[in-house]
Amino acid sequence: MSEFSFIPESASTFAAQVDALFWLLVAVTAFFTTVISAAVLYFAIKYRRSKSPVAEPARSTLALEVTWSVIPLCIALFIFAWGADVFMHMNTPPAETLDIYVTGKQWMWKIQHPEGKREINDLHIPVGTPVKLTMTSEDTIHSFFIPAFRTKMDVLPGRYTTQWFQATRTGEYHLFCTEYCGTKHSEMIGTVYVMEPEAYDAWVAGGVAGLTAAEAGEQLFQGLGCATCHSPQSGARGPHLLGKYGTEQALEGGRTALFDEEYTRESILNPRAKVVSGYQPVMPSFQGQISEENLLRLIAYIKSIGADTASGEETE
Ligand code: CUA
Repeated sequence: MSEFSFIPESASTFAAQVDALFWLLVAVTAFFTTVISAAVLYFAIKYRRSKSPVAEPARSTLALEVTWSVIPLCIALFIFAWGADVFMHMNTPPAETLDIYVTGKQWMWKIQHPEGKREINDLHIPVGTPVKLTMTSEDTIHSFFIPAFRTKMDVLPGRYTTQWFQATRTGEYHLFCTEYCGTKHSEMIGTVYVMEPEAYDAWVAGGVAGLTAAEAGEQLFQGLGCATCHSPQSGARGPHLLGKYGTEQALEGGRTALFDEEYTRESILNPRAKVVSGYQPVMPSFQGQISEENLLRLIAYIKSIGADTASGEETE
């Protein structure tokens, strides 16, 4: 890594798209910088005071003004359209992704794989597979940046943000926090290991044979007493959660809400914010009683019994 490189290496499907847009911006900037600088220099010499009379005040010409307004407008709109296209692509994860949870805190990245494997400041992923990160912070604002993938997203306390990418090459790549988050912000770095899928499977299965994220979540679901009100056998106190994740929920007051990560989190920490239609606001808040990582495990469990799983059958 000692040799100088103008841009980071490219290791995701986004890299070529982002770089193409970047180089277009460089080319447009370089072109106009050159043309305008040359014109300034040329006119400064050609019309220098010692050889020229004092200039007449300039009169405006409609044609000229329209030209220098419309051409830059078209260039800017073209760049906007291209940028929006890349932006939408980067913000729309495919339906099938490997879901990995990330919790940022001063000053480390804690990462949890769906199979239960956990790591700190390292991220192991398989090559050629779309990976989606769901991220939150325990304290302040961080930002999760992998230059070789050209992806970066803020990691915020109190809510979830996501980013997705698909690595194209195996290898080791830098991972940075890119939001100044305190004294040791510059130490909040790590390594992304892109592995062959078989190697990833072996890695994820190796080490401590622990619970998967969803299984750990199910234990919490039982342990915290959620099952008392939220299982199909529990009667009418609270809505059961089988097959609910990913669906639209009818709420008291006529609104609806999508049952997603954010909704689950809010309903655990602030149950009265969105009460499901037909139920009383009797659930106690779990604010301050569940860590961010355990919240993510609960979500993994609720997701595993959600709408995407075979007609909501229970996973055991
Ligand atoms: Cu976390 Cu900077």
